[in-house]
Amino acid sequence: MAVETVIILAAGEGTRMKSNTAKVLHRVAGRPLLGHVLAAVEHLQPKEIRIVVGSGRQSVEEYISEVLPSATTIFQEKRGGTGHATQLALAGNDIRGTVLVLAGDTPMLTGQSLAAFLQVHNSGNFTASVLTAEHPDPTGYGRIVRTASDELSHIVEERDATDEEKFIFEVNSGVYAFDGAKLMNSIGKITDANAQGELYLTDVIGILKREGESTAAVLLEDFTEILGVNDRIQLAESAALLRDRINEHWMREGVTIIDPTTTWIDVTAQLGRDVTVHPGSSILGTTTIATGAVIGPRTTLTDCDVKEGAAVLESIAIESVIGEGATVGPFSYLRSGTFLDEGAKAGAFVEIKNSSVGRASKVPHLSYVGDATIGEGTNIGAATIFVNYDGVDKHHTTVGDHVRIGSDTMLIAPVSIGDGAYTAAGSVITEDVPAGAIGVGRAKQRNVLGWVLRKRAGSKSAKAAEAKEKKG
Ligand code: UD1
Ligand code: CA
Repeated sequence: MAVETVIILAAGEGTRMKSNTAKVLHRVAGRPLLGHVLAAVEHLQPKEIRIVVGSGRQSVEEYISEVLPSATTIFQEKRGGTGHATQLALAGNDIRGTVLVLAGDTPMLTGQSLAAFLQVHNSGNFTASVLTAEHPDPTGYGRIVRTASDELSHIVEERDATDEEKFIFEVNSGVYAFDGAKLMNSIGKITDANAQGELYLTDVIGILKREGESTAAVLLEDFTEILGVNDRIQLAESAALLRDRINEHWMREGVTIIDPTTTWIDVTAQLGRDVTVHPGSSILGTTTIATGAVIGPRTTLTDCDVKEGAAVLESIAIESVIGEGATVGPFSYLRSGTFLDEGAKAGAFVEIKNSSVGRASKVPHLSYVGDATIGEGTNIGAATIFVNYDGVDKHHTTVGDHVRIGSDTMLIAPVSIGDGAYTAAGSVITEDVPAGAIGVGRAKQRNVLGWVLRKRAGSKSAKAAEAKEKKG
């Protein structure tokens, strides 16, 4: 096992976020910041994960118990520094083997990089190792001070650094590996004699080094992986970097993304080969998109299952299944529980919820379908409304196979339309229509001749009618 214990420091207040939400619960690419760190750490399969929580404790603990109930949380009541937080995480435990310590606000870190770092630490038999990167703007980070022979000496915080040290571009990522027993031994030796009056975990490195222990600074190639989120600007930067990383992954897997800068795919989504994603689209949550499907432009899919060869144009869909070869949009809204079978169509300006539309059935224009079961090969005429709500309760409508619902039909639920039946355009259908019948539910038309000439005399309409009369 490369690592026995992982300690995640996540008690910070995140003051600069100016938020009612705990910093580590702010989301990028479909997961809270902490969720990305947990995913990277789980990749290492450690024996135990200990998370120090503080600010927003309750919501952070709730999230952890939801996604990683095996993790232990430790409460840090008051900020005392990263060294203090680590002391709390270790207290009362006999920790052996390799310990990995990292922060909860670095969503870009990958499990692969952490594994490679641990590999260097373990194979080199170091007592302490720190993951570092060359940062083009090191402001705010702890700097890596090396000896004349280029070995790690110690870490100095920005606020405690000399002008000369501020010119060091190699920074502390906040990720460390320790020999557990030796960390237990030295964690009590740090003091708060620094500009912030806090206990710095970074000081443990210098202490161990002075005691003659072997320490290493392990440089990470891609500095973007260590970027932390402290404010909303960095939150957006991380989101954009993750977006690019995810898009590049899918493009390598055979997905065409027309405009990667406006395409947002959550880490939890899955796309098949030869899927095409047009600009302005978001593929969110647990959405899966099968081979050959075409998504967008300007489409948002949340927790959807899009089958092979389906097309979704300028639409929003949530918790819906879009069947093989089915088409949606433009401008449609599929709400939770929509099921479009193979070859079905939800056309322009159509809203559907909690309904299934059978194979090759169509709802082509301007309709609302709620709480309905529609059979195969059926056509729902333009502007049909499934009137599912009586003001108190919701009711179900059943429409059979090869039905033709006339345009502007109101289907007052609960109601059932039999196989092969029709409804007349403009009908208000309150009673079941048997198979093969036509339901007509509308007033008979009457024409009042000359009404405009009498009641709207002199109007443009009246004049037009008169001119027509003269021409005969
Ligand atoms: C820390 C490092 C710095 C490094 C940087 C990388 C120290 C002293 N400095 O600085 O060298 O370059 O991270 O991002 O460690 N936390 C707690 N309890 C505390 C204090 C912090 O849980 O009492 C947590 C925070 O929630 C955060 C992490 O520890 O997740 C780091 O704390 P932060 O205040 O962001 O440290 P930096 O000043 O950024
Ligand atoms: Ca930080």
